Amino acid sequence: MSLRSIKSSRSLRLTLRFVIPLIVVMTLLAYLLVPLVDKMTLKWSVRDLDARSRLITSAFQEPLGELLLQGNKTKINNWFARVIQDERLYALGYCDGTGRLLYHTASFPAALGCSLPGTSSYDSPALLQLPRGLVHVAVNPVSVDGVSRGSLMLVHDMSYAQRRSEDTRKYIVVFFIVLCLIVSFITVLIAHLSWRGWIAGVRMFLRGDEINRSFPESSHSELQPLVGDLKALLRAVDAEKRLDDDMTFTWDAAALRTLLHKQLMGDQIIVVSNREPYIHVKTAEGIKVNRPASGLVTAVEPVMRACSGTWIAHGSGTADYDVVDKKDHVRVPPDHPEYTLRRIWLSKEEESGYYYGFANEGIWPLCHIAHVRPVFRTSDWLQYMAINKRFAAAVISEAQRDDPVILVQDYHFALLPDMIRRAMPRATVITFWHIPWPNPESFGICPWREELLKGMLGSTILGFHTPFHCTNFLETVDRYLEARVNYASSTIARHGSMTLVEAYPISIQFPPAGHARLPAIAQCRDYVRKEMNIEKTCLIGLGVDRLDYTKGIIERLRALECMLENHPDMVGRFCFIQIAAPSRSEIEDYQAFDARVRALAAQINLKYSAPGYLPVHLKVEHHEPEEVNLYYRAADVCMVTSLHDGMNLVAKEYVAARDDEQGVLVLSRFTGAAHELYEALIVNPYHIEQTADALYQALTMPVFEQQARMCSMRSMVSNFNIYRWAARMLLDAARVRQREKLADRIGVQL
Ligand code: F6P
Repeated sequence: MSLRSIKSSRSLRLTLRFVIPLIVVMTLLAYLLVPLVDKMTLKWSVRDLDARSRLITSAFQEPLGELLLQGNKTKINNWFARVIQDERLYALGYCDGTGRLLYHTASFPAALGCSLPGTSSYDSPALLQLPRGLVHVAVNPVSVDGVSRGSLMLVHDMSYAQRRSEDTRKYIVVFFIVLCLIVSFITVLIAHLSWRGWIAGVRMFLRGDEINRSFPESSHSELQPLVGDLKALLRAVDAEKRLDDDMTFTWDAAALRTLLHKQLMGDQIIVVSNREPYIHVKTAEGIKVNRPASGLVTAVEPVMRACSGTWIAHGSGTADYDVVDKKDHVRVPPDHPEYTLRRIWLSKEEESGYYYGFANEGIWPLCHIAHVRPVFRTSDWLQYMAINKRFAAAVISEAQRDDPVILVQDYHFALLPDMIRRAMPRATVITFWHIPWPNPESFGICPWREELLKGMLGSTILGFHTPFHCTNFLETVDRYLEARVNYASSTIARHGSMTLVEAYPISIQFPPAGHARLPAIAQCRDYVRKEMNIEKTCLIGLGVDRLDYTKGIIERLRALECMLENHPDMVGRFCFIQIAAPSRSEIEDYQAFDARVRALAAQINLKYSAPGYLPVHLKVEHHEPEEVNLYYRAADVCMVTSLHDGMNLVAKEYVAARDDEQGVLVLSRFTGAAHELYEALIVNPYHIEQTADALYQALTMPVFEQQARMCSMRSMVSNFNIYRWAARMLLDAARVRQREKLADRIGVQL
């Protein structure tokens, strides 16, 4: 249905809604009024005829007296006949004092005689229904020279009164019709004007401040209080609902599924990320499935298993192509499929420009304060644009309806939201930026800063880990784009579309998948000790990271070296295992970093190792999540010392793995996790001595203190798990969708 026909049917409905009750009321009024008016008209006519009868009688007293004295019947009857030529006087009769009808006109009703119907006297007038119609009968006394001489009976025709009454009735009906039309017109006009005003108000509300530019405040000032109140009310309801939800509801996979079906009517979910959740690789033993070391995958995969749908990602495994169908689909998880993975193929050149180049040599160092300079090359930018386009085309081809919910993941796809929005305006695009967002000055050095921001603003919702990153983003847009940035509502309006910028701290599945099958803590310790050849008396420290310069691995190793230096009693009693998943190894900065880490580990080992004792165990290789869990459960202390990190899920994984409520987390203050895990030992990784002290404090912490801290952190991670993260975004998306549907219904373009 076109907008025009929607509008005209709406105004028709509006008109009918006002006019029909009006017509009913008016008809009712007319129905009640007409008999009343009839009665009054009759009363007036009777009064009129009474007076007339008295006037005629008094005018005829003299001539009639003379004629009566003469007693000439013919003369009297002739005179009577002349008198009734008056159009209203129908008949005339004369009764003597004894009540005999002596003279009368031919028209005098025979049945009437000298008495009035229904009365015994002659004084009061009466109405009589004759076959010819209603008549008025008046009996007036006649006297001659002061002597009473009978009475004159005057019969007036009442048909004129009936005609008058009919005319009046007609006038009344016409009057009511005209009144009805005028009132309807005025009502509809007022309704129409207030509808428009209301729409303008709602539009102003829905669009936020942007509308104020097109509708200057003064011209709609009467709507301002209403809009303000409405906004405040909705925000309060929203906040209350969120708080309620946050405090009282336990989110798990089933609850998330229910939410999806209830709030989003089972709408299709499409996830887009660069990294795929399952990587098929060729090995000597055949095809093997690996799960990548990726916080993104750790977080989003349980959500996908709960929601089904389609996950679109780069097919990077050596056997990926061998296992897909002709639509490049493969059902995953491989052992019990729950959703579809759609793989996108990239050539070496494309991967080099889009992934290694623009995403990881450009945006990654741009967004992390790790003092590695971003590199921007035009050739990388061109590949980045082209690959974003390819993923957009894949999203469009996977969409089964025009309004799917699309979860765009991370900095590899800054341009994707706008591309999707253009192709599918009704889609809900939720973009989550897994890394920090820098301040406007830092971001400003990107040669394509405007393009990236415009691309991201295609999102319906744009999520960051912390409110601080949200503020940085709002300020960046404010600095570089023509857009309406509303800091109070955390929204950005641009070119008629609105983006909500919100903090959604990411988390993990709790309890972790396969947790029940994990060996007991003591067994895990035995396993790790055996595996790494570590003495039973040795305390174990652990680091789990991708081999990335933002993770603070160098600073961590320096801190442990410093701790050994400060506490020689720990030499031989403490060793540190660093699991480092090889990452982005085509990039020079990463190669150099890898070399520095290996060199530093070797240097410490050279300094402190002894027969049967190695202080640093560096394991630069891929580990599957189940194995990492064994290490978490074996470690007395876990060190997360990122120089800058959006969230860092290793911190939460360590906490989740410790169902014995022991172990200590040393956590960098520059991670998002530090804003949630207050009971960790929070450190500044740049401050080597401070981190060394924290490490020593962790290794010597009494068990009861470990338990108190761990218990509190576990309750936090269990409550604010990955299902809550997804639920909060999906609930916000559902709210936005409802608002868009409302806007659609009232014909407002957001
Ligand atoms: O931290 C950002 C991020 O994209 C994470 O979401 C993910 O854990 C990690 O980087 C993986 O990086 P890559 O996919 O380049 O190996």
